[in-house]
Amino acid sequence: MGNKIETSSGYPIFISDISERLSEFLNSGEYSKTIVLVDSHTSEHCLPLLNLSVDRIADCDIIEIDPGETNKNIDICIGILSMMNDFEMDRNSLLINLGGGMVCDMGGFAASVYKRGIDFIHIPTSLLAMADASIGGKTGLDLNSIKNLIGTFADPKAVFIDPDFLITLPERELISGYAEIIKHSLIADADQFNSVKKHKLDIPSPELIRDSVNIKNNIVSQDPYEQGIRKVLNFGHTIGHALESFSLQNDEDHLLHGEAIAIGMICESFLSHKKNGLPDKQLKEICDFLFFNFPSYKIGEEDYDTLIELMKKDKKNKKSAIQFSLLKEIGKCDYDIVCREDDIIEALDFYLQFIK
Ligand SMILES: NC(=O)c1ccc[n+]([C@@H]2O[C@H](COP(=O)([O-])OP(=O)(O)OC[C@H]3O[C@@H](n4cnc5c(N)ncnc54)[C@H](O)[C@@H]3O)[C@@H](O)[C@H]2O)c1
Repeated sequence: MGNKIETSSGYPIFISDISERLSEFLNSGEYSKTIVLVDSHTSEHCLPLLNLSVDRIADCDIIEIDPGETNKNIDICIGILSMMNDFEMDRNSLLINLGGGMVCDMGGFAASVYKRGIDFIHIPTSLLAMADASIGGKTGLDLNSIKNLIGTFADPKAVFIDPDFLITLPERELISGYAEIIKHSLIADADQFNSVKKHKLDIPSPELIRDSVNIKNNIVSQDPYEQGIRKVLNFGHTIGHALESFSLQNDEDHLLHGEAIAIGMICESFLSHKKNGLPDKQLKEICDFLFFNFPSYKIGEEDYDTLIELMKKDKKNKKSAIQFSLLKEIGKCDYDIVCREDDIIEALDFYLQFIK
């Protein structure tokens, strides 16, 4: 397997056997200071592995933050920026983001605004970050539980993906990560969807991660700043992000990102059927698969108004019309489709009928 993917922005993505490539990168960079950003879980489970395989990591200072989506906010980010300053990082410094999508999004953001931008690399350690969040140059923070309200477009210098990190990832997080792999297959590769469907959702092969990265990379290369085709990557996310924000605001044991996106994909497949010609048989195929593999989430009709208000705050909307990316068939997706509130309510009803 070729384990290097070139992006159109010029940064490489390495998959598997990363220690040699990472050592080469760190030795060639001549950075004045290198800091590793971790959360407490990746500090415990991933940093020791990296220390063993890459000598230079032992010389780095560490910034550790609390884990989880509720910490992906501006207050924690200010703490990171202050520590970067305390460690006297100058413009010729490097930040290494070692973690899941939360650490990659936060670290990418912090690096992109610190002293007007310093170099950073991602070493994703969750499946979701390997297959999706570390690719494509978006950074983000939540504000008032609204997803990624603050963010920048900023490319890392390189991404190093080592599936060995997944051994310590909790099973619930692993399944959550599959949501974005499934999304990539639904929007762009029907064969991949059929192949994912046949397997148990356990630690994936490096090939599956590579194929998923390739789908995202191909789409992002055509439209880095999301003016057009990149919007297809938002399939499942208009309703999914609203549910994730709602759950972050209301539940102690909140929905994980991928879990919310899986429900979003069920609802938006319904909308795809209603508004964009997704065949009935394929709607059933998608829903059966997602219901079987992902936990359900109890919402009530009394929550619809709040959810729709959250959807209205979505960054992708134009003039407060709620915009969707919807499947035409499995493997093909269109974007900029406006749905009315009664369509959205019907989609939520569609989901609710299965979990009542
Ligand atoms: N920037 C993008 O393009 C993009 C795309 C998709 C998702 N995202 C963002 O990614 C985030 C979700 O990412 P996530 O699911 O990785 O969440 P996460 O970073 O919170 O990681 C999930 C949990 O797994 C732990 N963890 C990570 N790797 C581990 C390992 N190897 N062993 C043990 N524990 C480990 C983390 O500490 C955390 O508790 C969301 O904030 C979402 O908005 C960003």
